[in-house]
Amino acid sequence: MEVERVQALAYGGLNELPAQFIRPAHERPENSKPIEGIKVPVISLSQPDHNLLVKEIFEASNQWGFFLITDHGISPSLIEQLQEVGQEFFKLPQEEREAHANDPSTGKFEGYGTKMTKNQDEKVEWVDYFFHLMAPKTKVNFDFWPKNPPSYREVTEEYNKEILRITYQLLELLSEGLGLSGKILESHLGGEEILTEMKINMYPPCPQPQLALGVEPHTDMSALTILVPNDVPGLQVWKDGNWVAVDYLPNALFVHVGDQVEVLSNGKYKSVLHRSVVNKERMRMSWAVFCTPPHEALIGPLPEIMDDQNPAKFSTKTYAEYRYRKFNKIPQ
Ligand code: SIN
Ligand code: FE2
Repeated sequence: MEVERVQALAYGGLNELPAQFIRPAHERPENSKPIEGIKVPVISLSQPDHNLLVKEIFEASNQWGFFLITDHGISPSLIEQLQEVGQEFFKLPQEEREAHANDPSTGKFEGYGTKMTKNQDEKVEWVDYFFHLMAPKTKVNFDFWPKNPPSYREVTEEYNKEILRITYQLLELLSEGLGLSGKILESHLGGEEILTEMKINMYPPCPQPQLALGVEPHTDMSALTILVPNDVPGLQVWKDGNWVAVDYLPNALFVHVGDQVEVLSNGKYKSVLHRSVVNKERMRMSWAVFCTPPHEALIGPLPEIMDDQNPAKFSTKTYAEYRYRKFNKIPQ
């Protein structure tokens, strides 16, 4: 089935936003502006005082479910290469991208995608994306990865190694923040079998950005999401009843606490509600890596942090079940 790509629409010379992109009044950026004067936490991973680092990560994850990390050890040149190969893919002729088209309706999630409306009232997002699994290697099918540019695979595999290193480091800090052994979250999330999935979001310039959203408000169903954007801001996170805009900080990584860490921590860590807005003049891109448990992993509040005063706030289920319910909007 022919899918209308946002990129094709945007660059086809468009002065007005088509109806399916116009959000209901209360959702529009013009009616829900971010609050001024509040900044998201920024945490240096090279903080030499380990206890202080644990505390900073704890507080950010407890109060925001979101923070930026700096001094994470990923070289700026690797980040630049990752961004270049992603941009190259979105500069290919449209037919070449279409050869990678996904089809979520038949369970083919990997590949090039754009959400479509299922009915007249449903609104869609101003974004095209590319989605594929990165790890574990045994589950990856490289046929789903972009073939062009040719260096896509090498660069992305290198970036994945770095992301895994940081994921395990963050899970250790988060475990310690709960007063538990450093390996506990990792072991519940599958240990070596943790999955990483890459989603490249491409938000073309939008003729009426005040009426549209790039990505509608949601929490991520992952354990953690680690994202690097280009230099066009657009991400907003929900904090105490307000949207807070996240400023661009060169080479910083954006860390979102996802639903699985919220469940495991029995709500001590918050899965952050977030959305993205788009820009009239400039294309925004972001590279989000979802770190998730294997589908068969059983995820529920850690028994170690529950007692009579702290009963379970979430039910225990496989990640596959959680995912199915989230996709189909069935309460967890
Ligand atoms: C997302 O949450 O899916 C995208 C966020 C972003 O592009 O910054
Ligand atoms: Fe997200």
